[in-house]
Amino acid sequence: MADKVFIFDTTLRDGEQVPGAKLAKEQKVEIAKQLAALNVDIIEAGFPASSPGDFDAVRTVAKEVKGPVITGLARAVRKDIDTLWEAVKVARRPRIHTFIGTSDIHIQKKFRSDREKILQWCVDTVKYARSLCPDVEFSTEDASRTDFEFLCRSVDAIVKAGATTINVPDTVGYATPQEMADRIRRLKEKVPALDKAVLSMHCHNDLGLATANTLAGILAGARQAEVTMNGIGERAGNAALEEVVMAIRTRKEIFGKLYTDIRTKEIAKTSKMVSALMGLPIQRNKAIVGTNAFAHSSGIHQDGIIKDRSTYEIIRPEDVGVSAHTFALTARSGRAALKHHIASFGHTLTDAQVDAVYGKFLEVADKKKEVKVEELEILVQEELFKVPETYRLEHIQILSGTRATPMAALRVRCGDEVIEEASTGNGPIDAAYKCIERIVGRKFDLINFGLNAITSGEDAIGEATVRIRTNGTIFAGGASSTDIIEAAVKAYLSAINRWVAAEEREKAARKGARKSRGKAPAVSL
Ligand code: KIV
Ligand code: ZN
Repeated sequence: MADKVFIFDTTLRDGEQVPGAKLAKEQKVEIAKQLAALNVDIIEAGFPASSPGDFDAVRTVAKEVKGPVITGLARAVRKDIDTLWEAVKVARRPRIHTFIGTSDIHIQKKFRSDREKILQWCVDTVKYARSLCPDVEFSTEDASRTDFEFLCRSVDAIVKAGATTINVPDTVGYATPQEMADRIRRLKEKVPALDKAVLSMHCHNDLGLATANTLAGILAGARQAEVTMNGIGERAGNAALEEVVMAIRTRKEIFGKLYTDIRTKEIAKTSKMVSALMGLPIQRNKAIVGTNAFAHSSGIHQDGIIKDRSTYEIIRPEDVGVSAHTFALTARSGRAALKHHIASFGHTLTDAQVDAVYGKFLEVADKKKEVKVEELEILVQEELFKVPETYRLEHIQILSGTRATPMAALRVRCGDEVIEEASTGNGPIDAAYKCIERIVGRKFDLINFGLNAITSGEDAIGEATVRIRTNGTIFAGGASSTDIIEAAVKAYLSAINRWVAAEEREKAARKGARKSRGKAPAVSL
């Protein structure tokens, strides 16, 4: 059996299913290019039949991103498969990925059908997909809850119909590692035809076992891992790319000759890009990519690390692209020092972007004695991943106190127009948000609000994150400042700016679809 474990990245499909994480086409392409730099084997770029915007985004990724196989997801109906094929066929190495639920729960409750009809549907779907593309992946959705004998029959028939990769997802994150290993090993024993296909793992994290189940499946004979950056994905998320890859690399005595082709030094950069563009903060203690993943706080641990890093470190931070910085930046630090640090984060900025970051850096450095490297990195990310600022905060004034009614006055620029509003509220942030709603002329549901200090200390930069909902769609926003109210206001505006950008994209996509009507793929079943 081959020793390579293929890394199938589904950040842009399963990951994008996280409410509020929807990306613009340009952002998808930017992440896809970074995934290619990370050297993933397959990129699942989206679900083209889900919207004209996603179709366009997947097609652009297929056209512009070189290296990995490019795929997208399609339901097992011709219309979806045709649309997917239309989007990915321009790639150098396209793949069709389609799926049908094979558990009795799915068969009876979702399809109101029976096993025999489902089996035939799987076979017909694979044959149709193979008539379009030589590389076809089929997912037996809810495989971990599928009757084992029926799973074996289905997989056998699916491979014989021409599927080149068989994915056996733990769709609801129900399996345990022992069970998963057992299922994969027995599946390989009972279905000799599987020698002609790659067996793939796709594990969800509902019980916190996604990475463990993926690795158990690989040890039992699977050779593709479907993962997402930072473990994002439907509900509790998917197995995290960084965890699966680093476990295989770090525990050689367990995984033997197994390897992936991932350029691990690109992990930190990819992780931050995904987090910033999708508006999904990474928990501090997240394995491999959390800010605390390599921070040693107790005296005993620090002493050990100084004597020999191997006492408390199983991975060298630099191997995943995290550099250990020691020197501080102050208002006297010049552009050259700043550029040096920015380069060490792995980003290339234009001169104009460096100027913009330098300006913001000086503003922060004037307020604080010292700017920490983590804080500079936040400024760089804000510049790199900013959304077009339709609404921009110009001025804010807050009145608040134990006995006073909180009041906010805001001045916001929208193009050439400057709009001012004042409001009271339950607190200063509530008052400011009411001003914003009046300025924009629309009410939003604030479904999530978070504040996080980037570093420790009284003058640390605070990072605010918000999620708002309008017409059933969620938009995320984030901003940082030494003043937490300013950060909160800017975060709200950035979520609103994402909503504006999405509205404009949808309008443009609808216009484009009207124009290209007639060129649409065939829809027959
Ligand atoms: O979780 C799942 O089963 C999926 C498949 C459609 C691959 O995402
Ligand atoms: Zn999934």
